[in-house]
Amino acid sequence: MRKFYTCASVLSADMRNLERVSKELETSGVDMLHFDVMDGVFVPNLSFGFPVLEAVDKSTDLFLDVHLMITDPLKYISRTIKAGADLITFHLESSSDPYETIEAIRKGGVKAGIVIKPCTPYEAVLPFVELVDVVLVMTVEPGFGGQSFMEDMLEKVKGLRKYIDERELPVKIQVDGGINDKTAAAAVSAGADMLVVGSFLFNQKEISNGVTALRNAVSE
Ligand code: DX5
Ligand code: ZN
Repeated sequence: MRKFYTCASVLSADMRNLERVSKELETSGVDMLHFDVMDGVFVPNLSFGFPVLEAVDKSTDLFLDVHLMITDPLKYISRTIKAGADLITFHLESSSDPYETIEAIRKGGVKAGIVIKPCTPYEAVLPFVELVDVVLVMTVEPGFGGQSFMEDMLEKVKGLRKYIDERELPVKIQVDGGINDKTAAAAVSAGADMLVVGSFLFNQKEISNGVTALRNAVSE
């Protein structure tokens, strides 16, 4: 089974003490922290923004993967980088020009990724694959944690995996939404390299238990 990275989605964390959560995440075996920014327009929900991202960045040395679910990501790239992002993913369906947005992220010296919603075919993202570090395939409708994994998204992951492998591109495939010990193995065997995991990890008594359960599920 291929290696995969676990990206813990802060959206499901206990917000009363993010410093404590960040410290627990550091020793739990997760590979990075996934931070969902929502504007209430691009998705029907609001989450958190720069002050919280800065606070998390100050609390941990973990790599910060920031998923922008906002209408005009280009407008906020430099502030997202300033707040501590190491990777910024933005939606192909947003109103920003994808080429300009990727360029702005790259200019800021951080990694760039592009995201597609469940309704977008993977072919739509192909013109950008060679320009980014990560392609994120949403496996739920963006906006909320705790939803069920959409099995039919696996075909998109497989299509992208084939495209990337045939060209030997160094691009990683990330999946986000509904990942748990029942769905992780299917996502990895379809070709995902990075699993975003929210409610499954934070519903465990210890986050490290969830990390181990995912590893066991994928290696079975
Ligand atoms: C959903 C977010 C996800 C969310 C995943 O819009 O992008 O990152 O936190 O949560 P779970 O793992 O609970 O589906
Ligand atoms: Zn996300």
